[in-house]
Amino acid sequence: MAIKTAVSRLSLFPITAEVNKQGHLVIGGGDTVALAAEFGTPLYVFDEASLRAQCAEFKMEFGQRYTEISVVYAGKAFLNKALALILKEEGLGLDVVSGGEMSIARAIDFPFDKVYFHGNNKSAEELNMALEWRVGRIVIDNFEELTRLSERAREKGRVPDILLRLTPGIDPHTHKYISTGVVDSKFGFTLATWEEVVAQVISAPDLNLVGLGFHLGSLIFEIEPYREAIGRVLDFAAEMKRKHGFEMQELDIGGGFAVQYTLDAPTPPISSYAEVIATTINDKCQELKLALPRLVVEPGRAIVGRAGVVLYRIGAAKEIPGVRRYVFVDGGMADNIRPALYAARYEAVVANKMLLEETGKVTIAGKFCESGDILISDISLPPVTAGDILAMADCGAYCLAMASNYNASLKSAVVLVKDDKARLIRRRETFEDLGRCDVV
Ligand code: LLP
Repeated sequence: MAIKTAVSRLSLFPITAEVNKQGHLVIGGGDTVALAAEFGTPLYVFDEASLRAQCAEFKMEFGQRYTEISVVYAGKAFLNKALALILKEEGLGLDVVSGGEMSIARAIDFPFDKVYFHGNNKSAEELNMALEWRVGRIVIDNFEELTRLSERAREKGRVPDILLRLTPGIDPHTHKYISTGVVDSKFGFTLATWEEVVAQVISAPDLNLVGLGFHLGSLIFEIEPYREAIGRVLDFAAEMKRKHGFEMQELDIGGGFAVQYTLDAPTPPISSYAEVIATTINDKCQELKLALPRLVVEPGRAIVGRAGVVLYRIGAAKEIPGVRRYVFVDGGMADNIRPALYAARYEAVVANKMLLEETGKVTIAGKFCESGDILISDISLPPVTAGDILAMADCGAYCLAMASNYNASLKSAVVLVKDDKARLIRRRETFEDLGRCDVV
């Protein structure tokens, strides 16, 4: 029988992942063990080829099935200047939810006509920024925001292009914390108020209603919820056309496309989501005699998830006889809160022992002062010792973006690898950085 090694998990890593002669994990031509030595750990490594391939796949799979599409990357998954530049080069749009994300886009001169501004409680300052910097679309989440934006637009003599975020009341069967399209959600307009808001906006001279949108949630493995939600929103658009003369030019179906984190949880390919989504819109619009709207998709996780790998250095271990063996790494819940927050599951490999046989199960725990700081429970690994490098797959999305300075830890460095070259795209924080905002 063949021995079981980490090679079986390579498919979860970036597309350039391979194993070199020393039995080390290589990404983008870079030996991860050497990267950890050069840049320190924890280290987030992004593979540029994987990032660009995902951008291209979304454009291709949706583009070949539907007339007009915009792929708008959801910056909340991870945003930084170097990444924003890649997205700009790939021609993607950007979904932002804060003045901070807008300012990162601004810093690299991202084309603002491709920026979509979401959020359920945009501040006055943020609305002003959006108007001044002329974001492409402001996605209105509730009635109060509508009034606030109208007032500001009037003051500034602008007529912003807006979308309305509708809550279609559909359960995408994902974790409760990342399910957003259900009736009891803080986001968007409740079904009972859809007509009222459309009627109100259509008659508002300060706002230009371009279309409608929804976002069902994140990490959605099923495709059917998209079909159902699109059907519901298009039926509504047809009704609003009849009653109020509303012409929907754009339909934003949000993000949520799943990523495979573990070998036992495969996802549908992007082509399957694209097929159902495009077919539903094409058929339904024909049936309802609606002009085909521009289709906006907002993938976050599916663009950056698999492109990112985190490297930790293994330190101490603790054996509890008959119970479990804990292996500790030099990061944890401060750089990846997802296991603690959503019971998220990950796979990992020992980057310097890729060809060694897996001999037993261990539990990977972080270094932070909480018992919940467990990254992976019961994973089969080869024997590990202090100094080994643990590489966790699929850490590109919602890890760095949700990182904290818990225990006054320093946020990780980030490198981008491509064609055997590694480039630092975010330096590691220092103790000086930690104290920078304190006032004594
Ligand atoms: N569009 C809107 C309006 C969104 O709210 C989101 C994500 C996306 C697009 C992108 O969704 P994605 O394609 O990445 O699934 N922190 C959670 C995920 C929160 C997602 C919030 N909204 C996690 O770590 O699983």
